[in-house]
Amino acid sequence: MQIKLNLTPLEALARHNMLAAQILAADEAYYEQDAPILEDQAYDALRQELNALEAEFPNLKTSQSPTQILGTKPSSNFAKITHKVPMLSLENAFEKEDLLDFITRARKFLGQPNAQIEFIAEPKIDGLSASIRYENGILVHAATRGDGFEGEDITANIKTISSIPNHIQNAPAVLEVRGEVYMDKNDFAVLNEAQAAAGKKVFANPRNSAAGSLRQKDPSITAARPLKFFAYTWGEVSPFPAPTQMEMVQLFASYGLSTNPLMQKCNSLDEMQAYYEKIGFMRSNLRYDIDGVVFKLNSLELQQQLGFVARAPRWAIAYKFSAEQAITIVENIEIQVGRTGVLTPVAKLQPVNVGGVIVSNATLHNEEEIIRKDVRIGDTVIVQRAGDVIPQVVEVLLDKRPANSSVFIFPETCPVCGSLALRDEKQATKTTTKTDVARRCSNDVSCDAQVLGRLIHFVSRLAFDIEGLGERTLIEFYEKQLIRSMADIFTLEARNTASFTKIDNMNGWGVQSVANLWASINSRRTIGLER
Ligand code: IVH
Repeated sequence: MQIKLNLTPLEALARHNMLAAQILAADEAYYEQDAPILEDQAYDALRQELNALEAEFPNLKTSQSPTQILGTKPSSNFAKITHKVPMLSLENAFEKEDLLDFITRARKFLGQPNAQIEFIAEPKIDGLSASIRYENGILVHAATRGDGFEGEDITANIKTISSIPNHIQNAPAVLEVRGEVYMDKNDFAVLNEAQAAAGKKVFANPRNSAAGSLRQKDPSITAARPLKFFAYTWGEVSPFPAPTQMEMVQLFASYGLSTNPLMQKCNSLDEMQAYYEKIGFMRSNLRYDIDGVVFKLNSLELQQQLGFVARAPRWAIAYKFSAEQAITIVENIEIQVGRTGVLTPVAKLQPVNVGGVIVSNATLHNEEEIIRKDVRIGDTVIVQRAGDVIPQVVEVLLDKRPANSSVFIFPETCPVCGSLALRDEKQATKTTTKTDVARRCSNDVSCDAQVLGRLIHFVSRLAFDIEGLGERTLIEFYEKQLIRSMADIFTLEARNTASFTKIDNMNGWGVQSVANLWASINSRRTIGLER
């Protein structure tokens, strides 16, 4: 897929910095906090744009670029393990053409433009990768991927997973088995319910649940979690026991490790595309989450000839699925007012599972979009999670429209402050204007939704990044009139000291958390220009 950009070198640099910062923040949330801040498709889109930028402006491809690094440094909560053989990621394909490019590149690299190459196709499991080292058949240690070179020592936790044997027989003297630790969708739902009932952390999806469960300091917590493992590749192996990908995986199975039963051979582009479609069809009925399929050259000799680029092998590719969809009912339509005053209509949905995530809100973007899609309250709709943190309504199933469905009348006043909400006229060409699709609250000075929205944006991760002053705290401080402007954040400590109604006495605050808040605000009195 070729993305064309029309940027000056300076614009490209600015865009590169911005994309890199977003990707790094997303990586940190995903790998370190096990709590993603971006949908997979949105994340992939950022990476695709970054790749396209670097293809056009190669000087941006520094060793610090997210295209050259992988994952994040291991957490200091765990001891570190250096991978003898780096743990890499995979290049992504999004359409058949990308797959063709992949095959053509491989053939060209091998100097055999017409060679028939055999591939192994398998589902791409949405979990987290782990490397498990056996020496003389005994499990000696296990690690997360980390930054690909150094991972976290999770030996004690891995040993609690029942589908991973502690001893294996007839194996090479050194064998690092690599694969995916994951959680079944059902087990995830049951665990989440129990967590919620006990007032403990609930997870966004099975992948985060698996990651959060595996990266526990106390292995007895991991032991109580229903984790599973699929073996699909390896690190250091000696002596080397088999000549093909398929036979290696069959050996893993003979050692008592679980391997994916949907693995099969493909001999042409069409067979690969057919496999992708078949697995896509099965996806929602599989007991575990997958986010695509992976193709690998079957011959290990050819794999070795092809070798690697920065983060990924040339002999494998991940062909990703597009957004997951589900059908549900629009119970209501509400208006949200954002920091710029834009009134955004949100469909309140009968909660529905979209690819492992329970969705109860979907954006309708703006009033024209509601009219274009003719979404009415009571309608049955297709929703999808894609390219955006907020799920979207794709289309209305008109044959399911009930007689009593009601048309939503878009308000002309702000539902928060009551001021007029207008659609501005924008200059379209020199002589014509165009009505803005967005309707905006005209009270940008004192509309609570706008002021609060700006404050939340101000302290957010990519801006001032003030830890301890999250959205919920800000709302509370705003309502209590403690913070009404950005400057108020920096006078809060002085006012708190002088005041009778102290934060220290508010629910949920203690000496330490208040001290931490002052420290994090003070650490942000001076920040970098890019923030
Ligand atoms: S092979 C050197 N096979 O996807 C290549 N990876 O996006 C090693 N993954 O880091 C990876 N299912 O965590 C491979 N069947 C599969 C996979 C798979 C899931 C993960 C793996 C990898 C990531 C890349």
